[in-house]
Amino acid sequence: MPPRIRSRLLFASLLSLLRATAAEVLIADFEGPDYGNWTVTGNAFGKGPARGTLPEQAPVTGFRGQGLVNTYLNGDKTTGTLTSPEIELNHRYLSFLIGGGAEEGKTCVNVLVEDKVVRTATGREDETLSTLTFDLGDYAGKKARIQIVDDVTGGWGHILVDHFVLSDTAATPPFFQQPINTETLYEESYRPQFHFTAQKGWLNDPNGLAFFGGEYHLFFQHNPKGTQWGNMTWGHAVSTNLLEWNQLEHALHPDAFGTMFSGSAVVDWKNTGGFQTGKEPALVAFYTAAGDTSPESKGKPFTQCLAYSNDRGRTWKKYDKNPILGNLGEGDRDPKVFWHEPSHHWVMPLYIGEKDPSKLNKEGKPVTRNVCLFYTSTDLKQWTFASKFGEELFECPGFVELPIDGGTRGSKWVLWGASGDYWVGRFDGKVFTPEAPKKKADFGSNFYAAQAFDDLPDHRVILVGWLQGGKYPGMPFNQQMGFPVELSLQSTADGPRLIKWPISEIRQLFTSVQHEELKQPFPAGTQTLSGTNRELADLEVEFIPGSAKSVVLDLRGNRFEWNAASGEVTAFGRKVPAPLGSRALGRRSEFRRPWGPDYEPWERSVRLRFLIDRTSIELFVNGGTAAASYCFVPRTLPTNTLSVEGGDLARCRFTLRELKSAWKY
Ligand code: FRU
Repeated sequence: MPPRIRSRLLFASLLSLLRATAAEVLIADFEGPDYGNWTVTGNAFGKGPARGTLPEQAPVTGFRGQGLVNTYLNGDKTTGTLTSPEIELNHRYLSFLIGGGAEEGKTCVNVLVEDKVVRTATGREDETLSTLTFDLGDYAGKKARIQIVDDVTGGWGHILVDHFVLSDTAATPPFFQQPINTETLYEESYRPQFHFTAQKGWLNDPNGLAFFGGEYHLFFQHNPKGTQWGNMTWGHAVSTNLLEWNQLEHALHPDAFGTMFSGSAVVDWKNTGGFQTGKEPALVAFYTAAGDTSPESKGKPFTQCLAYSNDRGRTWKKYDKNPILGNLGEGDRDPKVFWHEPSHHWVMPLYIGEKDPSKLNKEGKPVTRNVCLFYTSTDLKQWTFASKFGEELFECPGFVELPIDGGTRGSKWVLWGASGDYWVGRFDGKVFTPEAPKKKADFGSNFYAAQAFDDLPDHRVILVGWLQGGKYPGMPFNQQMGFPVELSLQSTADGPRLIKWPISEIRQLFTSVQHEELKQPFPAGTQTLSGTNRELADLEVEFIPGSAKSVVLDLRGNRFEWNAASGEVTAFGRKVPAPLGSRALGRRSEFRRPWGPDYEPWERSVRLRFLIDRTSIELFVNGGTAAASYCFVPRTLPTNTLSVEGGDLARCRFTLRELKSAWKY
């Protein structure tokens, strides 16, 4: 062999050796004029990579360099695939940037080994690309192809992708899909760790919240057949501490009257309904049979029905004279039954969409008014109309009596609809009379259809909401509940306000605490809120602004910005009131050592408490006088930082408690 060729070969093999052992290999950065040796099908990818935002698209950000894959070519209606040549998996992690649509299997990046999809991930319905990492350790040494898919023509029918790199280190916590498997269940990448989720399938409203025999019962709207809404049943879980849940058999399945929509449950302590068979009182559930939502109930209307259990909720019988309330109007649903001791009867607030013949819509049809009717009963079976609350209230009424200022100023009744907005007023057993205009309870983007435990032996009233609308791409489950909060009322200048505060049981999940009072005054700059990365945390931050214009908390890649001029926190595009508060506002941190210092709130400070789980953050401002719930898809390493902008913070302190998973028991 001539020496020239030999040295060239030597050089080439050295190069390939270098490549194979380099800590990182760039697979594609889409900076060129075309897709090189990648294969294109369809019309969504065009001839080559896009240069940023395409016509009529909201600004695309987060890509590297000038080029990226952007299938918004000619809008969402175009489709196609882009597939790489075979790549040798000589490094464990594949990282890339991804954005765009969130439809599983339809707007996604797939990794194929032997033509089988072994990893897949979607965007999360935004135009900002973020890093995602696949752990391909199981396929080391094998050959793989990367496939980018756009198979959706409607809204969010596009995908954004850039910068594929194989490397030995994970750029973000690896994203992986897991089959349902009892060993790994509850450990999936997007599985909330201290919020309730169904083992698998779609979940929405909490139903039938009741406490009996030492167990909290949480029933929930559940689709056992899929991860989207439909086939409604009542799922069932029990807990002894409202943290660790044990999912049981379904309580209610669809029947000829319809699928099983939302409702409530009571313990019939005095056996008023006569359903009790043994020594223990019966649990009685009230639900809406949603007629015409299944082939078996075709043409049937919505009605209100009853079911009972004589074995602590393990098995249920539907009442043979159902329905207990025939159809009353459009979509009447969500009965919430409770015992009213002063009038010695049961009360049922019920949502109904009432036709108003005095107001016609554009098509000349009567408009629908969403109202709440009150019914009463002494035996749970016969119900009498009592009153109508005529203000706009949509779905899932909740109604509880709460003490004001710890009971020192008596109590009031609070009525809410699914949005959580509420009225405070009085109730005489039949009629609710609001005493102040409606107020807002949750200022975030993901809170809906909350229901309360209102018959607890310790007299607390505990609310559980559904964190509606979160995204859990690739997961066997969909949607999560909010963390349980204790409700109370506090007097303010504009009447009693609802206070929400995470139940103190949360301390059972604390594993470590870090408390720090920052240097005074704390200058503009950024501070990491923990020595290590904390994925699950209960974080309290208190500050007195001084000359600072804004305080930004970056929690797991989510920005919460408190603005001094407006006295509000902006996060996820929403504003939460967070004015400088008096130390007497709301609840104060009740944890004693070792879980926190015994400190009094400062005067005229801002107090923010965040419950940070893998896919949600709940914020409680000034002791729970305002609350906000948010869901997110984690795509960054779990760091939390605090930044001060525009001046000094006069004082600042934080307590960060790390939490353990509630599923590991
Ligand atoms: C609220 C709701 C209820 C209904 C249920 C059906 O989220 O629409 O009104 O009973 O969901 O799943």
